[in-house]
Amino acid sequence: MPFRMLPLFLLAAIGLALAAEVDYPLDAPGPDGRRPGGTLTQSMPAPAIANDENRDIKRERNYPDQPPTIPHAIRGYQIDMNGNKCLACHSRANSAKSQATAISITHYMDRDGQALAAVSPRRYFCNQCHVVQKEVQPLVGNSFETIDKILQDDANAARKP
Ligand code: HEC
Ligand code: HEC
Repeated sequence: MPFRMLPLFLLAAIGLALAAEVDYPLDAPGPDGRRPGGTLTQSMPAPAIANDENRDIKRERNYPDQPPTIPHAIRGYQIDMNGNKCLACHSRANSAKSQATAISITHYMDRDGQALAAVSPRRYFCNQCHVVQKEVQPLVGNSFETIDKILQDDANAARKP
């Protein structure tokens, strides 16, 4: 065996040893999340796909820089080289007609913070950051508190004698 092949052989040997090591217990309980119960190796029926929330009510944001979630259905809205359906309502020019929130100035900025005349390419694909919500209960508990609540608690604590 040529000496320069040695690292390759070593790698292969380690890989084999590792592969042999993996030995999942067949009846370990599955993670309790999106997938309902069962064991790790069991195939469970996939949960039904939930409807998009479509109530047209803007949600409160948890912090100022949060991209707001989309409060309306967006099925079939095209965003590609040929057009951007979202901008038909949300662009600065069209928002007066549609009464949709106009995209903010950050959507017109390049990465150096320079304001451009048109929507920045970094903000063209809206769904990178904005998503619709589903009509489902949260999968796991969450103890997140908004900054407003934290400030309020602080103020209350300071007021106590
Ligand atoms: C037909 C017009 C129309 C189109 C097209 C449209 N929107 Fe909207 N959008 C609205 C209106 C009106 C609102 C205000 C709330 C409501 O009525 O649903 C809104 C609200 C929103 C909000 C919440 C804004 C906030 O301040 O909380 C986001 C985010 C949003 N839209 C994103 C999108 C994205 C992304 C697309 C494309 C996939 C899109 N919209 C396409 C009309 C539109
Ligand atoms: C890279 C992430 C990103 C992309 C892509 C993006 N947004 Fe946003 N958007 C944000 C963030 C973050 C905010 C909240 C802070 C701000 O205004 O910059 C926001 C805010 C908004 C708001 C609320 C503005 C306000 O003044 O309250 C609307 C409406 C919106 N975006 C629509 C869109 C639409 C339509 C597109 C596609 C043309 C888009 N966004 C693309 C991140 C993004």
